[in-house]
Amino acid sequence: MKRYHVTTFGCQMNAHDSERIKGMLEELGLGEAASQDEADVLVFNTCTIREKPDQRFAAHIAQARALKERDGKVIAVGGCYAEAQRERLFDLYPFVDVAFGPGSIAHLGEWLGAGGEAPRSSFGIGQERSFAADLAPHRERRFQAWVQVSMGCNSVCSYCIVPKVRGREVSRRPAEIMAEVTRLAGQGVRELTLLGQNVNSWGRDLRPDLETGFAELLRACDAVPGIERIRFTSPHPKDFRPDVIAAMAESESVCEHAHLPVQSGSTRILKAMKRTYSRERYLRLVDELRTGISDLALTTDIIVGFPGETERDFAETLEVVEEVGYDGAFTFVYSPRSGTEAATMPNQVPEEVKRERIERLVDLVQRIAHERNQERVGGVEQVLVEGSSRTDALLQRGRTRRNTTVNFTGSAVPGELVDVQIDGATSLTLRGALRAAVAA
Ligand code: SAH
Ligand code: SF4
Ligand code: F3S
Repeated sequence: MKRYHVTTFGCQMNAHDSERIKGMLEELGLGEAASQDEADVLVFNTCTIREKPDQRFAAHIAQARALKERDGKVIAVGGCYAEAQRERLFDLYPFVDVAFGPGSIAHLGEWLGAGGEAPRSSFGIGQERSFAADLAPHRERRFQAWVQVSMGCNSVCSYCIVPKVRGREVSRRPAEIMAEVTRLAGQGVRELTLLGQNVNSWGRDLRPDLETGFAELLRACDAVPGIERIRFTSPHPKDFRPDVIAAMAESESVCEHAHLPVQSGSTRILKAMKRTYSRERYLRLVDELRTGISDLALTTDIIVGFPGETERDFAETLEVVEEVGYDGAFTFVYSPRSGTEAATMPNQVPEEVKRERIERLVDLVQRIAHERNQERVGGVEQVLVEGSSRTDALLQRGRTRRNTTVNFTGSAVPGELVDVQIDGATSLTLRGALRAAVAA
């Protein structure tokens, strides 16, 4: 039997696309190999959101080339980097056999040929887009699943390459989404993560044909028996309308967690980023969310060193971090992406200034997240068990409804919902001891 290996870079959407790629290769009769070395077909599902994933891919592909020269592997490159470089990919890497964009995963099988044996050498990327969601996935965990609700993004954030590589936003039809959710629940899935580049604007492009929206989708998923936790990513602050906040508050299975990417605390910079909200509007939204949903965890994404960012602008970002008191944050150094508006803006911030700012930001984010986690010590958290701890095999690991990782003592099975007594905290995790199973 021929074997495949998929290497995934980037966001959860890419991770989910990789599940579909794996499912498709298995339908073609290939088995999964434990390492690149043992595989006949190497697939790279790439990301190009910042320069770093591009560089990581470059290192991987150099290694794949050596493997191919040694024993003739088939190399397929898909995802956002492939899409962004579609004109040059085969020039840059002539040893690549197949290239495909995020919208053309459905064609990968026919391009690879039956059994992955007869690759052709050159293919266009992404001429036609389809939902990878229509392909049967290979899921890592029986009790958790991603559900793609839309593809693409209609925002025009001036730093971001995603709209260019993932295209305009298209929502999946609600009947298809609900059929998938119901099927997953029947297979034992307890936790769903709804996925879209701009997940909470779901449904807008279906109008006027269908009058629906993200709030309705949350409520419909909540009504499916067996689904105990619903998460969604990535949302945009502009689409957290009052009806969405109400649906989150009133739907028992929707988790008490909102990822609210702020990007900057300076209204001037937000405007240059084309984020469509001001610092004040954002802070009002935080208030509305916290008023509407009790015990809500808030996380965010922040970019430092956007073109023109002054020390004063950066100080405003630090102020917002303090004021909101995030439970966690992903922090990024601004990385110019060719083809985006911000890449050619004047006043690019020098590398050393960006470095110095991100260090200050990370220190603050960690201090606050540690304080927030410390507040949970002494309480009991409901945890969905995921397996053994990454750092200590004697401990179990899982996540709370607020999406914090918990390492705990006591015996529990992956997929089980348990109560954990919390007795310690770091900036990223909680520690505790098993109290009791909540439900079988
Ligand atoms: N659709 C999502 C996130 C997409 S990318 C959203 O709008 O929230 C994830 C994060 O990467 C972004 O939130 C942003 O913080 C960061 N990012 C995107 N482009 C970047 C760039 N050019 N440089 C640095 N960080 C970037
Ligand atoms: Fe990129 Fe902005 Fe769209 Fe998010 S909302 S994917 S940051 S363009
Ligand atoms: Fe990267 Fe594409 Fe996701 S650029 S972050 S893999 S949408």
